[in-house]
Amino acid sequence: MKSLPSLQIGQHIARYPIIQGGMGIRISGARLAAAVANSGGIGIISAVALGLNSPYFDITQPNGRKRREQFFDANRLALIDEIRAARALSPDGILGINAMVVAQDYETIVRTAAEEGINLIISGAGLPLQLPEYTADYPEVALVPIVSTRRAAHILCHKWKRQYGRVPDAFVVENPNSAGGHLGAKLEELGDRALDTEQTIPELVDYLQETGLSIPIIAAGGIWDRADIDQMMAIGASGVQIGTRFITTDECDADIRYKEFHLHAQPDDVVIVSSPVGRPGRALRNAFSERVIANSPELEKRCFANCLKSCKCRDQQESFCIIQALDQAARGDIENGLVFSGSNAGRAERIMPVAELMAEIVA
Ligand SMILES: Cc1cc2nc3c(=O)[nH]c(=O)nc-3n(C[C@H](O)[C@H](O)[C@H](O)COP(=O)(O)O)c2cc1C
Repeated sequence: MKSLPSLQIGQHIARYPIIQGGMGIRISGARLAAAVANSGGIGIISAVALGLNSPYFDITQPNGRKRREQFFDANRLALIDEIRAARALSPDGILGINAMVVAQDYETIVRTAAEEGINLIISGAGLPLQLPEYTADYPEVALVPIVSTRRAAHILCHKWKRQYGRVPDAFVVENPNSAGGHLGAKLEELGDRALDTEQTIPELVDYLQETGLSIPIIAAGGIWDRADIDQMMAIGASGVQIGTRFITTDECDADIRYKEFHLHAQPDDVVIVSSPVGRPGRALRNAFSERVIANSPELEKRCFANCLKSCKCRDQQESFCIIQALDQAARGDIENGLVFSGSNAGRAERIMPVAELMAEIVA
């Protein structure tokens, strides 16, 4: 079998065409990102709400304006810590962050990461239309939007070229029918095969050919092994982004109970929940996700930190606080927290070191 090619994104060349997907909150932190980068892939720190579980913020404090301002400051300080920790563990690896456009402090997070010498920024949950502006002083930082359709890619290329004279350094194309976390499709669109990467990647390849743009495409969602990678490369991807498979590793930053919950999950434990972000999310069945699916009155509808630009919990007192639910799960309360997962849950046989997992995937 041919060995996998390297992957160039902007000025950065990874030995293997594998990006570990950013997973919030604190599922992919410094440890996981550095381990992947040291194994020849690209390691991504999820920059979502890092302040929550940091020395800079106490979620149990009473509600109030001061506390919310402190939350954003805590996010920034905790992000600096996380990037420095990852860099200390992987001095020469390629490290990135994943930042969500819908986060209130998106601009600060992106600017901070660039100042801290991050190599690339992957950005979704909204179109990152102003990303080049926030990183203008750091041209070496590669910018990678997440898109689900050719149309979204076109809007970004058009606007970035006109306004900033550049195009994205790569696109992550995520399959909403299999990826974990928040999905780039509406609830009623899920299951539509037209949204599968088998359809959307060739469409994007055509678009890039028509417009003469040479932008690598990274396929995400449902990728598990070398055969999946080869399949994505055959339809025009230059690399893949893998999330769920990296959860069951020693270095994954989540609590061991979170990893074991993933390890023991079955394929039919994967469910779709409506998130206050206004998008569906793919997660594992537990007491919490069952409460969300049943729209149970027991769900706490208190906004903890005003973290999102648009949120049903804060604006309509519906749903639940997404960061509180994700944080609770990451810290090991896997019954009362939200455990995001891709459709591949339950396929891991054991928790293993990242280096071993990477060797297995690329073999
Ligand atoms: C636990 C978990 C948390 C995630 N959090 C984020 C996130 O904060 N931002 C984001 O853009 N994608 C997030 N994702 C999506 C991943 O980065 C990745 O693209 C996706 O999971 C790929 O599909 P796979 O899990 O089938 O490999 C998350 C996925 C999981 C499983």
